[in-house]
Amino acid sequence: MKSKHGSFVLSEAALAELDLLPVWRWRGGDAATEAAAQQQESAAAGVASPAPSGEAIHSRAAAVPESADFRSEVVQMGWPQLKACVKDCARCVLHQKRKQSVFGVGDEKANWLFVGEAPGADEDAQGEPFVGQAGKLLDNMLKTIDLKRGEDVYIANVVKCRPPGNRNPEPDEARACEPYLTRQIQLIQPKLIVALGKVAAVNLLARDVPVASLRNKVHEYQGIPLIVMYHPAYLLRSLPDKAKAWEDLLFARRTMTALQAKN
Ligand code: URA
Ligand code: SF4
Repeated sequence: MKSKHGSFVLSEAALAELDLLPVWRWRGGDAATEAAAQQQESAAAGVASPAPSGEAIHSRAAAVPESADFRSEVVQMGWPQLKACVKDCARCVLHQKRKQSVFGVGDEKANWLFVGEAPGADEDAQGEPFVGQAGKLLDNMLKTIDLKRGEDVYIANVVKCRPPGNRNPEPDEARACEPYLTRQIQLIQPKLIVALGKVAAVNLLARDVPVASLRNKVHEYQGIPLIVMYHPAYLLRSLPDKAKAWEDLLFARRTMTALQAKN
């Protein structure tokens, strides 16, 4: 179900969790008014990068043997087939040490899609994205803009299996896994994609630049508006950037309000 998000319900606990009290307190007021004031700014930000050309990020790694038409099979899949395929997938080395693959979770018709990097130990054990410490922060970040896991929100990762030792996924692993995320996006048809951190941004935008230069702009992934914000795990390590997370959350909310006003 698509929700309307008429107002902010900011929880003090959530703000405390983000270390945003007392300075970064939402001063009340109506989200729509805020959106109207900011809409021009969002529009001016426009589309900051072209949609990735399919081939730029879809090229195959020689290390991943596969049937040539794997991608064309995946684009035909509905949810049940896609889930089954990811469950048994062995298209990259990450399948070797995983306990289980982590498909994604949430409202399959969500307006909001949050994309992280890869499962960590907790996610590998539980089979759900963002259930560890970073997940707790993500849930609190969602709460500050009146969102809740599973309610108009879908959460997925660039790769579905845990990289050993929580290293970043290698480019060939991200490429091998990419048809699954692409298909999830096609099935969900979110209004807005939020890339959490550098790995998600690099893979969805096919641009290897710092998160700092990508945030606060509306980009695009295959025609769908996309914004970039710091990864919750990074925010847990970097206290000063938590304030920027708050700015990012407000920007996300404003962008969604503007998108919903369009249709
Ligand atoms: N970090 C991620 O990027 N994804 C998860 O699922 C958990 C932590
Ligand atoms: Fe398959 Fe993706 Fe897991 Fe690699 S990370 S084995 S491509 S599901």
